[in-house]
Formats: sequence, structure tokens, C-alpha cells
Amino acid sequence: MDMVGILLFAVLVLGGSHAFFGQDAGNARNESAHVSPGTRCIHAVNPPKKNHEVHVPSTQNDVVTTTNIDERVDPNPSKIPSLMDPSSSIGLLPPSTIDLADQCFPVPRCDSAARFRTIDGGCNNLRFPVWGRTNTAHTRIVQAHYSDGTDRPRRSTSGHELPNSRHIRTTLFRDLDRPAPKHSLYAMQFGQIIAHDTEFALPKTSNNGSKLECCRPDGTSLQTLPKNCLPIKTPNDDPGSKNRCFTAPRTLDTADRGCNIKPVRQIIAVTSFLDASFVYGSDENTANSLRTFSNGKLRKQVGPNGKSFLPNTKKGARTCTAAITRNDNAVCFTSGDPLRVNIHPDQVVQTISLLRLHNFLCDEFKKINPSWNDERLYQEARRLLIGMYQHIIYNEFVPLLVGKDYARVNNLLPSSKGFNNNYDQFLNPTTITSFTAAAYRSLHSYIPGFFDLVNEARKVTSKIRLSDFYFKTDIVQQKDNYDSFLRGLLTQHSQEQDQFFTKEVSEFLFRIPNKTDGLDLVTLDLERGRDFGEPPYNKFRQLCGLKEAMSFNDLIDQINKKNIDALAKLYEHVNDIDYYAAGILEKPKPGSILGHTFQCIVGEMFFRWKFGDRFFYEFGGQPGSFRLDQLNEIRKTTLALIVCMTSDIQSIQRNAFDVPSARNPLVSCDSIQRLNLNAWREV
Ligand code: HEM
Repeated sequence: MDMVGILLFAVLVLGGSHAFFGQDAGNARNESAHVSPGTRCIHAVNPPKKNHEVHVPSTQNDVVTTTNIDERVDPNPSKIPSLMDPSSSIGLLPPSTIDLADQCFPVPRCDSAARFRTIDGGCNNLRFPVWGRTNTAHTRIVQAHYSDGTDRPRRSTSGHELPNSRHIRTTLFRDLDRPAPKHSLYAMQFGQIIAHDTEFALPKTSNNGSKLECCRPDGTSLQTLPKNCLPIKTPNDDPGSKNRCFTAPRTLDTADRGCNIKPVRQIIAVTSFLDASFVYGSDENTANSLRTFSNGKLRKQVGPNGKSFLPNTKKGARTCTAAITRNDNAVCFTSGDPLRVNIHPDQVVQTISLLRLHNFLCDEFKKINPSWNDERLYQEARRLLIGMYQHIIYNEFVPLLVGKDYARVNNLLPSSKGFNNNYDQFLNPTTITSFTAAAYRSLHSYIPGFFDLVNEARKVTSKIRLSDFYFKTDIVQQKDNYDSFLRGLLTQHSQEQDQFFTKEVSEFLFRIPNKTDGLDLVTLDLERGRDFGEPPYNKFRQLCGLKEAMSFNDLIDQINKKNIDALAKLYEHVNDIDYYAAGILEKPKPGSILGHTFQCIVGEMFFRWKFGDRFFYEFGGQPGSFRLDQLNEIRKTTLALIVCMTSDIQSIQRNAFDVPSARNPLVSCDSIQRLNLNAWREV
């Protein structure tokens, strides 16, 4: 794959067995698997087509507790925009604006009694069947800001070009090795799979539909930049070479689909829901290509060590080892997210873990319900896997991200008992541009430059340099590397969530073997915000209940003086500052890794993915709801359990998102609570 091929991928992206497992778990132990609401009301939600209420747990004790969070208490957690007193916010977009994009896409016919979610996310919402569906448009939370009102990137308040994004990157976002105090590398990895589950922006192509070349094949700049490339100029004094090319295609939008709405909305190429689409696919063809159509199972390959791995696409895969090394014998994994699964080894490890889980659940369900056919086994295993995955997200991951107090106040924590009956059909769960083109990307700061391989004694046996292993994932199935990478995820610290980014992503992204430089992810992030029409930081202050900043000095409530001075040197006016740039510089909120406005948008997004998903695992009274005894089993799920179930790892810390410590010691995998799958026995 040449630089352009890699660049294309950049834009595409950018665009065990323990004995308690069935054989197909790759690794399995031989035992059988053991494996809400109150009355407080919140006003929703966007778009408020009718005045409705959502009932949430009535007491703070009514939530599942987890110790996997920053212990700092937030004495005054703020509300997400959907729950905020409208007088303290500029408010969300009116429903008419939000629904504008719906007219661009065909409306599927829905079966309101269907028990299982569709593969493409359509018909999740029976009133708005397009919401959250693959190949529709992102939704917006604030109005887009384009210089021509349609699609041209924002300019400064004075009409000049905004500051060069690469210059902003090299000034504000350098490389400093600062490991997060508590969070394991799994926090980074889980964050990335959620990103891939819920978001995929595709690149614009050239007029004849072919790949748009924005750089020369050798990674240097073209003389004239094609119109649909991001307008990133290489600064003359760039620390890298002068002629180095940092640009990439802009993102496909509604106009490219022949839909004439203004401003444009970017297309999303996966389902918006937290539905493990990176395992199962976001369209029927992909989903079917991954199925064996026997006993519900997903296709796999057996590695040299006899364990299960993702299937091999062999030749023709553009985005993995085979393409880079031009070695057709190299293994190239495929999954529900075939273009991004091979981005780096830990991404593959996480996806393999869920593949093994799915096939294990099929084996167990077959034993428990011998009459279930292939389709039933596939759907039931998929449904349970998604339920377990959602429980980990809301019980363990979201509190880590936004803080436990904030999560509680905004109804993001799971209930400990009973059903939650608060599905809200007027809440749009489609991925929000400001989340994906700015706030959530800030977690690129979490990425370390090296990934550890770790043995059972939790000693590092080797390390890989990230930029040596982009798309080179077959290392995962050599020897016992799968388990070693997994222990690395559990033992190594994430990098701190701050203004520092490893050069492995900000100088060497998708570096070609034997080349010295690569792309700059942080510059792409900044530029992608402008591509998506994200308004400046000040708008998000107002949306999230802060005062509009009239001058740079007014930013002092969230950003330290040194960084304010740096922003004032870069930007002409306080109203010019990119949301991504200032959001990263905000001081983290107590208990959270995010500052005020990122916490606000990330919190809003997870709220919508919960209350706007008709198939959310905690909901009762829906055709797809679990029974209460089943739901209570799902509530036992932890990330630690899934890791133990799908690997040969013997010991683990209970909070897998925190590194082991005296408070989070290693325990035997046998002591991790499991689900009793007998709750799925048909009576
Ligand atoms: C080694 C780890 C990672 C690598 C190499 C990576 C790389 C990338 C690349 C190349 C893009 C596309 C950039 C563009 O717009 O042109 C991207 C997008 C994105 N990344 Fe990451 N990323 C990593 C980890 C993460 C993590 C930990 C998160 C969040 C927790 C995250 C969230 C996102 C999001 C939300 C997008 C936008 C996706 C889209 O619009 O299609 N990434 N990442």
C-alpha cells in the first residue's frame, strides 16, 4: 500500500480458553456457563415533539456501584443539554432543523413486533425508522458553521482563513509521556471500539468516483490541492519537512448523495447504536459474510496455537499486513468493520474477544435449548452479547469518562434492579457531529506510543512501537501473543487525557515501513471539525451552561493562563477558537477525564444512546426486552469476566479499566462472577 493508499485508509477510518468455556471459545473451561426506575422526572430531549417525561432511578443507592472511577467527588455536577434548564443554555436545535436530514434517506418498512434489532439499525425507532441507521447522516446538536452557509469551512470573524491546523498542533499539542495514574490501556481500547461501533465517516471521491489523491504517492504535497481535500497547508517552519503533505479528502456528505439540504450533513457508514456492529456488521451483506449459518456461529479461523481468531480475508484486503508488505500469505483479519479492524494489534484483540464470546454463547444456548435453529442461536447470542457490552459501557466505562457523579445526575448509571421503562422515541440516537468530529476524538490523547506484551506474572516481555504495527495485526495469532497483548491492555497505563499526544499518532500515523514520517492525527482531528462545520468553542460554552467568553481572558474559568496566552497568539478572536483545540485544554472536571464542554457533549451522546435505543438492555415492555431474571444475570457482567471467558489468562483485576493495585488486586479468573445462562432456558 503506498502513502496514498494509506492516506485513503486514514480517511476511511477517517474517513481462551479457560476451561469454563465451550470449545469454540478458542480456549474454554469445561464447566457449564454460569456464565428501573423511580420517580424523578427529567425533561427530554431532542426533539421535543411532545411534552414528555422520563422516569429515572429514585435514589442514588439504586445504581450499580463500581469502584472503577476517579474518586474525586463532583459537588455540583452539571446537566447535559437535554436535561438542562433552558435559561442557562442556548438550547438545542429546533426539531424541524434536526429532522431535516431525514428527508434525504429512504424510510424502511418496519416490523413493530420484531424481537431482534436489525443489522443496519433501521426501525429501531418505529416513528423515525431512519434514526441511527447505516448510511444516513449524522445529527447535529448546534447549527453548523460554514463560511458560505452550505459546506465551505469556517473562516475567522474578520473573514481571514483560520490559523493553520498543523501549526496549532505543533504549538499546543506536543508529545510528552504522561501515563494516566490509574487507567489501564483497556480504557483507551474500549474507547476506540465504541468509536468504531458508532461512527464511520467516508472520504469524498473524485468526480469519476475514483479515490481522491490529496498528496503525492511519496507523501509530499501536490502543486495544487484538489477542491475536496482538507485545506491543510504545510507551514514553512514545520518541524517535519517543508514539502510534507498533511491533508486528506473531505468527508462524504448529503450533497454527494443528491440531497439538497443546507448546511450539508456528513454521512455515517455504520449504525449509530451501541450494538457491536464492529463484530456483526452494519449491513446485511457484511453480516451474512461473517456467519457460518450453522448453530448461530460466526466465522473464525483457527490459529497456529489452536485458538479461534477472526476470519482471514487473505488476498485483496487493502488495509492490513498483506497490502503493506505485499505478502499475500500474511494473515489479514476481517470483521463487521473490515476497513478498520486491522488498524493496530490491540483493536484486533478486542474484536477477537467478542467473536469468541459470541461463539461461546451459541454453544451454551445450543446445550440449553437444543431445538433452537441457526437463526435463533445467532440472534439470541448477538442480543445477549450486546446487552453485556452495553452493561460494561454504562456501568464501568461511562463513569470513568464523565465521572460517577455526573453520570448519576444525568441518569447514565445502570439500575441495580427492575426494568428501566424510559425508552424515549423522541430522542434521536444518531451520532452527533460534535461528538465524533471533536469531543470524543480528544481521547486520541490516551494513546501510548508503545503497546506492551505481558506475561502471567504481569511482567513486560516485549513492546511494540505503534507505528511499526499499523495494519500489521497477524502478530496477534503468533505464539501466545493474543494473551500477552490482552495482559498488556490490563497492565499498561493509558496515557493521561491531556494536551499531549504521542508522536506515534501526531507524526508517524500510518507510517510506511522504512519511512521516517507519516500523517498527523491531531491535525486531522482539528481539520475534521472544520470539515464537519463545527462551530467555535464559544458556542459550546453557551450550549453547556457556561458564560459566553467576550475576550480570551474570560476563558480562565476552564483553561489555564499559559494555554489562554497560547490560544490568543494563534487565533485572532475568541470566537475563532476551534472547539477541539479549546476543549482539550479545559481542566478536567472532578471525577472525569474530560473538561466541561467535552463532558457535556460526551454525556449527551451516551444519554441518547441509552434512552434513544429501543433495544437498550435495561428496558422492559418492548418486544426485544430481556426477562427480568435474564436482565439480572446481565447485570453481573464485567469487562474482567469477558476477558477471562475469552482468553487463557489466569488472573485479573476486578476493575479491568484500572491497572492492578493494592485496591484492585489480581484475583483468579475463577473467582470472577459469571452469568447463569440457565435463565435463557425456554420453559
Ligand atoms: C491507536 C489508537 C487509535 C488510532 C491509530 C486512531 C486513528 C484514527 C484515525 C486515523 C481517524 C480518522 C482521522 C480523520 O478524521 O481523518 C480516527 C478517527 C476517530 N477516532 Fe481514533 N484512533 C485511535 C484511538 C481512538 C480512541 C481511543 C478514540 C476514542 C476513545 C478514538 C475516537 C475516534 C473518533 C470518534 C474518530 C472519528 C471517526 C470517524 O469519523 O469515522 N480513536 N482515529
